[in-house]
This record gives sequence, structure tokens and C-alpha cells, in this order.
Amino acid sequence: MNKIKLFPTVTAIYSRVLNSPERIIIEQGGTGSGKTYGILQALIHIVCNPKRFPAKGENDVITVTGQDLPNLKRDCVRQFLQILNKSELARTLLITPKKPTENNTHYKFATGWTVEFVSYETAQDAQAGKRRFLYVNEGKGVKYSIFEQLEMRTADKVIIDYNPTGKFWAFQKYLNADLTPKTGVRFSVTTYKDNPYMPDAIRKEIESWEITDPPKFRVMGLGILGEVSGQIWKNYKGIEKLPDNFKRFAYGLDFGFTNDVTALVFVGLLNGELCLHELIYKNGLGLDDLEKELIRNGVKKHDKIIADSAELLAIDWFKKRGWNVSQSKKGSGSIVTGLSILNQYQKNITFDSVNIWSEIESYVWVTDKSDGREKNVPIDKYNHITDATRYALQAFENAGRAVATV
Ligand SMILES: Nc1ncnc2c1ncn2[C@@H]1O[C@H](COP(=O)(O)OP(=O)(O)O)[C@@H](O)[C@H]1O
Ligand SMILES: [Mg+2]
Repeated sequence: MNKIKLFPTVTAIYSRVLNSPERIIIEQGGTGSGKTYGILQALIHIVCNPKRFPAKGENDVITVTGQDLPNLKRDCVRQFLQILNKSELARTLLITPKKPTENNTHYKFATGWTVEFVSYETAQDAQAGKRRFLYVNEGKGVKYSIFEQLEMRTADKVIIDYNPTGKFWAFQKYLNADLTPKTGVRFSVTTYKDNPYMPDAIRKEIESWEITDPPKFRVMGLGILGEVSGQIWKNYKGIEKLPDNFKRFAYGLDFGFTNDVTALVFVGLLNGELCLHELIYKNGLGLDDLEKELIRNGVKKHDKIIADSAELLAIDWFKKRGWNVSQSKKGSGSIVTGLSILNQYQKNITFDSVNIWSEIESYVWVTDKSDGREKNVPIDKYNHITDATRYALQAFENAGRAVATV
């Protein structure tokens, strides 16, 4: 094997990506552990080392993906360019663009390889194109159905990194319950302490969390899988796809309009358990746009939609246009009661519902500052799709709550 030394500073992450025999490489780590930098260095190594990684003339592509393009540009593309700037060989091999900036998302090298930075809106978009390597940056922000399509069309290796703020699809797919990797998976955990090249200012900031925010220090500093204290959601697990043929189902709708998130969720009842799937989670949706989104998501005019009772005008607007929308119940205690009903059900949540998963992690009870105990009051944040889910559940009330069957 020929050895090339492309970079003066490398970490174990770099060598794992290059040398692990496993097809799936999972890098869990606290912030600043060098995941993104190390993985990108390895990808540049692949592109610059045709003896070990010869182009085959077809699909010699490395895809770097993440939640959305602005995030990719801010982090991955920026670091990619920094690394490129430090390697004369890599710079010489780069054919286009000639003078790269953060706005360039496609890089062609004289060795025949292309590196692309792309984000996908839908699973269908992800069906276009094949590649040999796939790097999913901050895997949590990428929908499972998109990942599934990309992974299927990746010939060589798949690398996924994330901060351990909570479980997501990669846990169920690639790790056992005790967090050991399944066969064919390389799993590693790193922290900022594993990164000797961490800029001092950032290291100091991370270390300051140990005093100012111990839970954040555990997760983002030490890379330990987060357990949120005071978490409201209970009894749930991930599923890859919604079953079909629900006899009972409803949609829950929480309006956000210009300043807030509008959320729509599908809630189906099957054998006494709920199946949840997020359909809309968007800022700045007006009524016309929202109606278009309902149609695009396959909601039928006769399907039952239960919406936020605070927006009667909007509900009327939809009713006049023939939609089967009714208002959620209101009154004191309705939130806490609704949450308690929600928690009586076992919930099966699609991996695609990334915002449900993120609200599960972030929506918490108020805790008493003096003794740290939970109060029966939810903090009014990170609850858009949770509210929508509560509303939808009201459609099943006469079905007899948790003992409901179909
Ligand atoms: N091998 C390396 N050589 C030089 N600097 C590095 C290296 N690895 C990491 N760094 C520095 O550490 C910072 C944090 O690393 P990064 O990969 O962004 O962490 P993570 O993705 O784990 O949050 C980078 O911006 C870079 O400045
Ligand atoms: Mg990173």
C-alpha cells in the first residue's frame, strides 16, 4: 500500500474512516471532537490517492449531506475549504472550481472523483444519482426516508456523525439496545478531549459549561447520550414506515402563521396504539399556502382535522372552503390533561418525523429551582407539533382512551 501524507495534523477519526473494514462508520461525539474535520480530511485523502482509491469511471462521487444547504455551507463546506487550503496536493488536483468559495457545492478532481455537498427535501429527490461514499453530517437532522434512499445507492462506505443529544434512527438501525454496534458497523465516541487541535477559546467555552450548565457539559462536552430531565413525552418508539389501512385516524393542526411554526401531524390509532407522522413543520405559512400543503400531503377534505381553538378565523376560513376542520377543546387544565392522555398511549413515531423527535427532547416540565422537582406545568416552548398531536387525539376520545381498539 502506498502511503501519502497529506495533512500534518490528523486524529483517530481520520484513520477510522480510511481504514475501518466496516461499511458503516458511526462517529458520536461532543461538540468540537473533530468529527467533521477528520471525516472531511479522510474524504479528501480518498480523492487524492488514486492508487488506493482508484476512480472506476462511473459514480465516483462522494456525497456530503446534512439538514439543509445553509448549514452544510456554514460548517462542512467551510471546513472542506480550510483543509483543501492546507494541502498543496489536493489543491493541485482540484479542476473545478478554480477559485472555490463557500458557495461552491461541487468539486471535481483530476483523479476522476467528485465531492458534492447536497441536501434533499424528499426521499424522491434522494433517488437521483449514485455514489461511492456518503457522509451524513449531524445525522439527526436528516430524515430516515432520505437516508435510506442515499444509503441504498452508496457502493463503498457510509459515515454518519452526530452530537448525542438524544436517540434517532441510527440507534435503532445500527446499534443494539446496550449501545454496542451491530455487525458491519464501526461505532466510536469522542469528545473535545480527543481533539488536540481544538482552538483554545472554544475549549475554554466548553469547559465553562461544567459549572454553568452541567447537563449540557455531559452531552456536548463529554459526548454522553443525553437524557433530558423533565421530559414530557413518555412511551414512544421509532418506526421506519407508517402501517397503512388505519380505520381511525385524524390530523392535528397548530397554526403558526408569520412568526411561528405551523405544524400538521397524522395520528392513526391501531390496536390501541398511536402511530404518528409529521407532515408539516414550517414558518411563515399563510392560509393559502397551508391549504396547498394540506393537498400536497394527501389530506382529503373529508378527513378529520382538529386545529388550535385560538385561531377561530382560520378555522372558519377552512370550513368555508369545505374542509372538515374542528376546533380543539380549551379550558383550564386542557394542556396537562391532553398530555396525560397522550402519555397513556404507546406511540410509534416515524423516523422521518424529525421535529417530533426534537420536541420530544426539548419539551419539558418546569422544575422547581429549590428542590429540582418537576412541577405539573409544561414550559411553553418546543411544543408546536406536540400541541397538534394533542388536538388530533381528541378525535379518539369516544373511542375510550388508551383501551381503544379498532
Ligand atoms: N485534524 C485536525 N487538524 C487541525 N485542526 C483540527 C483537526 N480536527 C479538528 N480541528 C479543529 O477543531 C475544530 C472542531 O472540530 P470539528 O470537526 O468541527 O468538531 P465536531 O464536528 O466534532 O463538532 C475545527 O474547526 C478545527 O479548527
Ligand atoms: Mg461537526
